Amino acid sequence: MNHPHIITIASEKGGVGKTTLAINLAIYLKALREEIPVTILSFDNHFSVDRLFRIGNHSPVGNVSHLFAPAPPQDLATLGEFGISFIPSQGALDPAALGIDGVHKLAEGLKKTGLTGFVIIDTRPILDIFTQNALYAADQVIIPVKDLPALENAADIYAFYDLYRLPRKRLRILPSLVDMRIRFPGPFRNTFELLRAYAIKCGYRCFEGFISKSPKVESLNTNPQGKIFPVLIHGRGTEVHHQYTSLARQVIQRACGAEPRNSPPAEQAPQPPEKAENAPRPLLSGSHPD
Ligand SMILES: Nc1ncnc2c1ncn2[C@@H]1O[C@H](COP(=O)(O)OP(=O)(O)OP(=O)(O)O)[C@@H](O)[C@H]1O
Ligand SMILES: [Mg+2]
Repeated sequence: MNHPHIITIASEKGGVGKTTLAINLAIYLKALREEIPVTILSFDNHFSVDRLFRIGNHSPVGNVSHLFAPAPPQDLATLGEFGISFIPSQGALDPAALGIDGVHKLAEGLKKTGLTGFVIIDTRPILDIFTQNALYAADQVIIPVKDLPALENAADIYAFYDLYRLPRKRLRILPSLVDMRIRFPGPFRNTFELLRAYAIKCGYRCFEGFISKSPKVESLNTNPQGKIFPVLIHGRGTEVHHQYTSLARQVIQRACGAEPRNSPPAEQAPQPPEKAENAPRPLLSGSHPD
């Protein structure tokens, strides 16, 4: 495994749980596959990643902006809490000052850092040049959606993939912040069923399951330290704990080149047949189908 497997979390809709998901996914991936390095970075202008993962007052070598430098430092990622490395965030990122002249810059920069294992990228709720670079670099993209406007926004990510002739198979919708107390009359009984049906109608692939809206998870993000406390440690009694576990397993299975064992039957999720070149890059075999 001499190349990173990049997982980008993107949605133009704000507040769908991207940063919470990025942080927790890093922790669940590490818990499930301790031997695989996990690195997280964020283009968000909050410092949630830094606040949770930084150990002590260690001064960092650089930050996410250095990923766009012609020669990014090799030790850009700092080993942090839970055995997870992070690349420090940077509040004001100016594409012109950084000389970002295309969508391929981050992919090149990440390659030069020599990182291996899982790299998780949290993005801002806007399809700016940083999100575009994160989408372009990705082996897997998780698109959290909590309502129909968020799903409508997903069309822009699909259009970006089509524009750059990237395989749509790397994109997956994840219904998020679903409140199962809300019930609808008619064929779609709840938000999850509604979002999933709408996504499939648009030809989008979905992860199995969803992430519930949980007061406990929300409370883990609201505290004087400004930290997002991990669900794995503080919310094991919640549904979201099981949902993050399932999601992390699906991400690992996809990274290893296998489809999840419990894939829905074809009639529930009609999709065009797979082309070999559309498969996500395998993490553990060193070959890149695309
Ligand atoms: N599973 C959950 N249940 C309940 N609340 C949640 C859950 N996940 C995240 N939240 C809450 O939803 C809000 C938005 O979460 P978060 O900041 O992760 O979203 P985001 O998509 O990164 O937002 P932005 O687009 O502003 O970067 C926060 O208040 C967070 O505590
Ligand atoms: Mg965020």
